[in-house]
Parts: sequence; C-alpha cells; structure tokens
Amino acid sequence: MQIFPRSLNKLPLVVGAGATAGLVGVVFFIWYYFSPYFTQVGYSPKQPVPYSHRLHVGQLGLDCRYCHVNVERAPLAMVPPTETCMNCHQVVKTDSKLLEPIRVSWQTGTPMEWNRIHKLPDYVYFDHSVHVTAGVGCAACHGRIDQMEQVRMEKPLSMGWCLECHRDVKVKQGDSEFIRPVSQITNMAYTHDAHVEPPRKLNPPENCAGCHR
Ligand code: HEC
Ligand code: HEC
Ligand code: HEC
Ligand code: HEC
Ligand code: HEC
Repeated sequence: MQIFPRSLNKLPLVVGAGATAGLVGVVFFIWYYFSPYFTQVGYSPKQPVPYSHRLHVGQLGLDCRYCHVNVERAPLAMVPPTETCMNCHQVVKTDSKLLEPIRVSWQTGTPMEWNRIHKLPDYVYFDHSVHVTAGVGCAACHGRIDQMEQVRMEKPLSMGWCLECHRDVKVKQGDSEFIRPVSQITNMAYTHDAHVEPPRKLNPPENCAGCHR
C-alpha cells in the first residue's frame, strides 16, 4: 500500500535545492547587512602597528586628550602624529619589533597611515568640540575604548542614531543620561547616577540643515 504519492519521491531533492538557495540567501543577507558598508558596527581593521588603547589608556592611564588633542577645540579629534608615540618610545621598548614602523616613520618623517574606522559621508557635518563641551562623553559614541585591544566601531553612526540622541537630549533636557560633567568626558568608567545640569542650554539640531549644510 502506498501512503505517500509517488511525486513526493522528489521531495528530498526539492528540499535540498530550497535549502541551498535559502543558505545562499542567508549568507548574502549576513554579508550585506552586517558588512561595514551597511551598519559598520563592529568594524575593526587591523592597524600597521598594533596600538592598544587597553594598554595605554586602561593600564597606563593616559587621558584621551594626550593624543587626540583637538577633540575639545575642533570638529576633528585627530589621530596623533608619530612624535607623540616617540615621547615615550624613544626610551620605552626601543627594540620592539612591533614598533618598527613607528621608528621608520620617525626617522624618515613619513606620517603613519592608520586605517580610518569612523567616517561619516562628506555630506554630513559633525563637530567633536560641540558635543564634548556640552558634556557628551567619548564613551557615549565610541564605547569602552579603554578596554579595546584594537579599536572597534560600537555605534552605527547612522542618521537615526544621531537623531535618537538629539531628540532625547531635548526631551530630557537637564537630566539626560548622556550629559555628564564636562570634567568627566574622557572618564570611561563614569556612570550617570546623579542629576547633571548641562553646562549650557543645549539645542541639538533636528532640522535637515543642521547636519546637512
Ligand atoms: C597614546 C595615544 C592615544 C591615547 C591616549 C588615546 N588614543 Fe585613541 N587612537 C590613538 C591612535 C594611534 C589611533 C589610531 C590607531 C587605532 O585605531 O588604534 C587611535 C584611534 C582612536 C579611535 C578611532 C579613530 C578612527 O579611525 O575612527 C577612537 C574613536 C579613539 N582613538 C578614541 C580614544 C579615546 C576615547 C581615548 C581615551 C579613552 C583615546 N582614544 C586615547 C592613540 C591614542
Ligand atoms: C606615556 C608613554 C607612552 C606613549 C605616549 C605611547 N606609549 Fe606605547 N607603550 C608604553 C609603555 C609603558 C608600553 C609597555 C611596555 C611594557 O610592556 O613593558 C608600551 C607598549 C607599546 C606597544 C607594545 C610593544 C611591545 O613590543 O610589546 C606598542 C605597539 C605601542 N606601545 C605603540 C604605541 C604607539 C603607536 C604610540 C603612539 C600613538 C604609543 N605607543 C605611545 C608607553 C607609551
Ligand atoms: C556625539 C558622538 C561623539 C562623541 C561624544 C565623540 N565622538 Fe569621536 N567620532 C564621532 C564621529 C561621528 C566620528 C566620525 C567623524 C567624521 O567622519 O567626520 C568620530 C571620529 C573620531 C576619531 C577619528 C578621527 C576624527 O577626528 O574624525 C577619533 C580619534 C575620535 N572620534 C575620538 C574621540 C574622543 C577622544 C572623544 C572624547 C573626548 C570623542 N571622539 C567623542 C562621534 C563622537
Ligand atoms: C549622545 C548624544 C548625541 C549623539 C549620539 C549625537 N549628538 Fe549631535 N549634539 C548633541 C548635543 C547635546 C548637541 C547640542 C550642543 C549644544 O547645543 O551646545 C549636539 C549638537 C550637534 C550639532 C550642532 C553643532 C553646531 O555647530 O551647532 C550638530 C551638527 C550635530 N550635533 C551633529 C551630529 C551628528 C551628525 C551625529 C551623528 C553622527 C550626532 N550629532 C550625534 C548630542 C549628540
Ligand atoms: C543629527 C544629524 C542629522 C540630521 C538632523 C539629519 N540628518 Fe540626514 N544624515 C545624517 C547622517 C549621519 C547620515 C549618514 C548616514 C549613513 O552614512 O548611514 C545622513 C544621511 C542622509 C541621507 C542619505 C541617506 C542614504 O541612505 O544614503 C539623506 C537623503 C538625508 N540624510 C536626508 C536628511 C533629511 C531630509 C533631513 C531632515 C528631515 C536630515 N537628513 C536630517 C545626519 C542627519
């Protein structure tokens, strides 16, 4: 007695083909949506020298502004020049193989070519100093850099992400979880457990021209 129709003999084949197509779809989906070009979250390129924020910030206790000197004054935070590294590495770890490219850069005067991780499209206007002097800490946008062996992008830097905070700061003005005392902006371990008065009346733009100038 035949319970299943004969045509079902092809079923395993069909299921197999379907599964293969499905798998390709899933792989494509993951590749497309999770690739740095789409969300960029998690993007963490290897650098020419394995500079570690975990060591230099987390363990040695250097302040962000020792290297990213422009962050409170200008739109760009700036990655430090070789000279900044050589302040110490002229005397510390002078024979380290890992530091060879830094020494070559120092001797030849050729700047290091660090791979850029956070990069907005040219049509977006962004200014570090406005945010930092308003009491928005580095950690709000870059995560726990002090724990990273290699810098990794923590936030999507998408328009929705920018606007989410701009709206929130507005709504909760005076006690937004994002605003901290300006003295604490580089303190990676700071927690928002008390009411913090913003340093000035904050007015983050939600209109298009605020960010697309
Ligand atoms: C001793 C110097 C030094 C200190 C101190 C330092 N950085 Fe950096 N930072 C670098 C260098 C060099 C790079 C580029 C190489 C890399 O990405 O690791 C960098 C890269 C970055 C980037 C990624 C830049 C990009 O391409 O998008 C961020 C974000 C950053 N640092 C934030 C911080 C924060 C926040 C602190 C303080 C908690 C800090 N840094 C402290 C030297 C430093
Ligand atoms: C304030 C001093 C200081 C500055 C500035 C500094 N470093 Fe360092 N760096 C150290 C110390 C201390 C160590 C750890 C030495 C040890 O492990 O005993 C170290 C270790 C390293 C190592 C690991 C070397 C190895 O062989 O293990 C690398 C790579 C490195 N630093 C890169 C950099 C780069 C790139 C910069 C500039 C962006 C920089 N450092 C700036 C003090 C500094
Ligand atoms: C409001 C969010 C925000 C805060 C707060 C913030 N950053 Fe950034 N950071 C960004 C964005 C967005 C970019 C990419 C900027 C671009 O492409 O123009 C960036 C880029 C960088 C870069 C790459 C080089 C550059 O200047 O573009 C470094 C280094 C950096 N940030 C360090 C810091 C440090 C250090 C702090 C704290 C003192 C900080 N950032 C606070 C959002 C932020
Ligand atoms: C964690 C909160 C937060 C995030 C995330 C954030 N901002 Fe802001 N932004 C602020 C605050 C607070 C101000 C208001 C500063 C003031 O009024 O003094 C501001 C102000 C601005 C301004 C006005 C600057 C000026 O010169 O008037 C621009 C432009 C801006 N943000 C762009 C961006 C962009 C683009 C992003 C995303 C890549 C972003 N912001 C992400 C909090 C944030
Ligand atoms: C707080 C800052 C901010 C404001 C305000 C803002 N944008 Fe944007 N916008 C961005 C950022 C950041 C991007 C880049 C997103 C990315 O790269 O994923 C962007 C991207 C875009 C894009 C390109 C989208 C794409 O998929 O390539 C368009 C179009 C745009 N914005 C239109 C607008 C319009 C219209 C308004 C007003 C209703 C507006 N924006 C307000 C920050 C902002």
